[in-house]
Amino acid sequence: MNRIENITIAQCLDQGVQNDVHLIENATVVWQEDIIVWVGKTKEMPEQYEHSNIVLQNGGFLVPGLIDCHTHLAFGGWRADEFGERVSGTPYAEITKRGGGISSTVADTRAASKEELIEKANGFLTEMTALGVTTVECKSGYGLNIDDEFKILSAYDDLKKITSLTLVSTFLGAHLVPKETSREDYCRMIIEEMIPKIAEQKLAEFCDIFIDDHAFTQTEARPIIEAAKAHGLKIKLHVDQLSGDGGAEFAADCGAFSADHLEYVSEEGIKALKKSGTIAVTLPLASLYTFQKSLDARMLIDAGVEVALATDFNPGSAPSNHLPLAMMLGCTLNRMSPKETLKAVTLYAAKALDKADKIGSIEVGKCADFALIDTPSIEHWMYHFKANANCLTVKNGHIIYQL
Ligand code: NIG
Ligand code: FE
Repeated sequence: MNRIENITIAQCLDQGVQNDVHLIENATVVWQEDIIVWVGKTKEMPEQYEHSNIVLQNGGFLVPGLIDCHTHLAFGGWRADEFGERVSGTPYAEITKRGGGISSTVADTRAASKEELIEKANGFLTEMTALGVTTVECKSGYGLNIDDEFKILSAYDDLKKITSLTLVSTFLGAHLVPKETSREDYCRMIIEEMIPKIAEQKLAEFCDIFIDDHAFTQTEARPIIEAAKAHGLKIKLHVDQLSGDGGAEFAADCGAFSADHLEYVSEEGIKALKKSGTIAVTLPLASLYTFQKSLDARMLIDAGVEVALATDFNPGSAPSNHLPLAMMLGCTLNRMSPKETLKAVTLYAAKALDKADKIGSIEVGKCADFALIDTPSIEHWMYHFKANANCLTVKNGHIIYQL
């Protein structure tokens, strides 16, 4: 048995509003193997835990292990040249139209071996571990044919065996129609060949679709969603990112676990998300890097929608895997309070991954996943932004990073 004592704990329970992170001062958490067995005021700790091993004492802010619930983790190459162009005024959509953007990463990802993808993605995971991240969702979507989509998803499967972090795989075959295939043929391939094989081999837990003028229409998405559900995959959707066309309403109607991006969400869309209990995922790095307007998360939070936050890490629209940076942008661009951003990368991110029964809060029975932040308060952490304020990462009860 292990414990960390005399610290401040932000429990992030599924109670109250998004701003409620349930602070306990002078607190202790005790865990046995990978499960939390006690949490509370240090002076109230029952005698039976006194002989537990003290991992750390005094000072710091213990938060649930951070969850990055939306990344495109495995990709070949980079797109720094396009970044330069976008900075000088070329819109993201224009680069996509002329065959750059996602298509250029597809070419680089197809050219990479599975081993190369694994090595590169594992490097990103090591960096994320140091920041206090303990769970990462990772999408395919840069293969766009059976072999290469499988290569990415099976790279994630292999990574699960070598990383300490929990990875949640998402099939995003419907990211873009590849140049060499017609729309109809590609949608048919997704429905008839990719989804059944992926489900059978248990290579993904979620199915995602990029619904946008330059990607897939709602009409095309509908049968893909039906097929995914019929094969036991859960749904996430990229919606209302570059224009508002009822994407949030559609996600709510499809029973999606999360609706991600939402820069152009409408009032009706917000109402629909509230009604369906779909988690809204804000991705402020993507808005920032693509010079898009940012989502006003206040509209959602004030309407009672639970808002998660993630990096959207990918080589185009969000080339940073720094979740605390995205949290700071959640405050400055999305107008979330620092405490709201914490709940957005813990409990609500866990809900976006359908994992809130196991992770996302510090409470008895959940996994011993923690990050110890060197800060006097959550507000100070977000306000005085540092390259890395995390000094300890615990995953399933084991220290996996210590400063
Ligand atoms: O989430 N919106 C679609 N897909 C990614 C961008 C991927 C890319 O630019 O390579 C996103 O922003
Ligand atoms: Fe994305």
